[in-house]
Amino acid sequence: MNKTRVILDRDFTVGKTDERIFGSFIEHLGRAVYGGIFEPTHPAADEDGFRTDVLELVKEAKVPIVRYPGGNFVSGYNWRDGVGPVEDRPRRLELAWGSTEPNTFGTNEFMKWCKKAGCEPLMAVNLGTGTPEEARALVEYCNHKGGTYYSDLRIQHGATQPHKVKTWCLGNEMDGPWQMGHKTAEEYGRVACETAKLMKWTDPSVETVLCGSSAWGMSTFGTWEATALDLAYDHVDYISLHTYYNNHEKNLKNFLARSMDMEAFILSVIAACDFVKGKKHSKKTINLSFDEWNVWYHSNGAKFEKWSEAPHILEDVYDFADVLLVGCMLNVLLRHCDRVKIACLAQLVNVIAPIMTENGGKAWKQTIFHPYALTSQYGRGTVLQAKTEGSKYDSKDYTDVSDVDTVCVFNEEKQELCIFAVNRSEEENTLFVKTGGFEGFTPVEHIVIAGFETDCTNTAHAQPVQPTATALPQTETDGISTVLRPLSWNLIRLSKN
Ligand code: AHR
Repeated sequence: MNKTRVILDRDFTVGKTDERIFGSFIEHLGRAVYGGIFEPTHPAADEDGFRTDVLELVKEAKVPIVRYPGGNFVSGYNWRDGVGPVEDRPRRLELAWGSTEPNTFGTNEFMKWCKKAGCEPLMAVNLGTGTPEEARALVEYCNHKGGTYYSDLRIQHGATQPHKVKTWCLGNEMDGPWQMGHKTAEEYGRVACETAKLMKWTDPSVETVLCGSSAWGMSTFGTWEATALDLAYDHVDYISLHTYYNNHEKNLKNFLARSMDMEAFILSVIAACDFVKGKKHSKKTINLSFDEWNVWYHSNGAKFEKWSEAPHILEDVYDFADVLLVGCMLNVLLRHCDRVKIACLAQLVNVIAPIMTENGGKAWKQTIFHPYALTSQYGRGTVLQAKTEGSKYDSKDYTDVSDVDTVCVFNEEKQELCIFAVNRSEEENTLFVKTGGFEGFTPVEHIVIAGFETDCTNTAHAQPVQPTATALPQTETDGISTVLRPLSWNLIRLSKN
């Protein structure tokens, strides 16, 4: 039987997780907002028009931060369109996705929704068609107490208290030719620098996220990061990364190895940040905001009516294979928690999302909801450096892919050690974890998602893909051991109590 041996020690740590690593994303795209989080005519809508069935699922996943309002959408968005009396708001042609934007949901509605969902907003400003002044004015509108034009406008719009938005994305995917107002690294670096400067002068407590490459495979990757950072370094705190994977080629082994790309992408961006840091002899470290990541391909090619309102676009129906890759991607983010401080599963509802809804009907958990929610619930704490040895495989694009991908997180407060393990292999794998420094800790739970066909999905009518509790691992003299089922996502919890 295949084997994996993990050796960890309580004293050897990667770092503390920033809870924002379990964030997500809501864009004005398809039915993410309209029919997703906001549907005033739905039987479960509250007094603000928010779907309470969706809110419950968001709270269950303990989503700490939500990026908004885009995405490609933000690069053509005038935030003034989405504030003030709803009846006065303009209907606009939305060029990023070819839809009609009614603007009945905007900044203040989003802030209210965040409060109800228990999450923090991660706002993006328009650096495509927008200007530094428009971005700065939005910071004043959101964060200034009162007594100035924009802060008084917010108060006049019913939001008497400032929203205190801490983290701001300086545009979206500005390296991509598909972006409204696409820029070269030099053009973007300059405008991002000046915008961040004005935003921070307006509210010195804000943090800013510079756009990195929209994908690792962009021809400008690397030089984009180095150039934009060089120009904006002193005024930014994070750089963004985006990635989406697909299995169009129907090659499971290769698909499940894609998280290795994500890991290499993270390491390259860290290298770019530290190169600029070194070049500038700076004491400041730029951290990473992986603010779009997911599997995305099931819905490619789906047709929708041009200029319709809230069309069904990018409504990927996720399967069991996606559970495994999403699990591996979450493990990667955790393993790099010393530098990845923010990450957003893209997106949250209906659009390439863990939560799906019917207009006027049900809301349910897609397959990928489960690894995401369970990792968010149990993956907070200190990530331990773990040495993993075990069986490996080669696939079309990768060599030495570990059969079992793991990460171990110690939650000091709960005195709980959580081991996340994905068995990518179609065979069982014996896992042994040597838990140095965790004497007295014993297994209290083993949750597994396994036993499904790889194309098994959850729909409005049936949700077969669910986590289940399984037999506890064996306690050994210096650790624990168990047999991981073929193609399985696992969470093993050890506790002292
Ligand atoms: O998340 C969907 C889209 O993917 C976003 O709008 C864009 O930023 C990315 O290309």
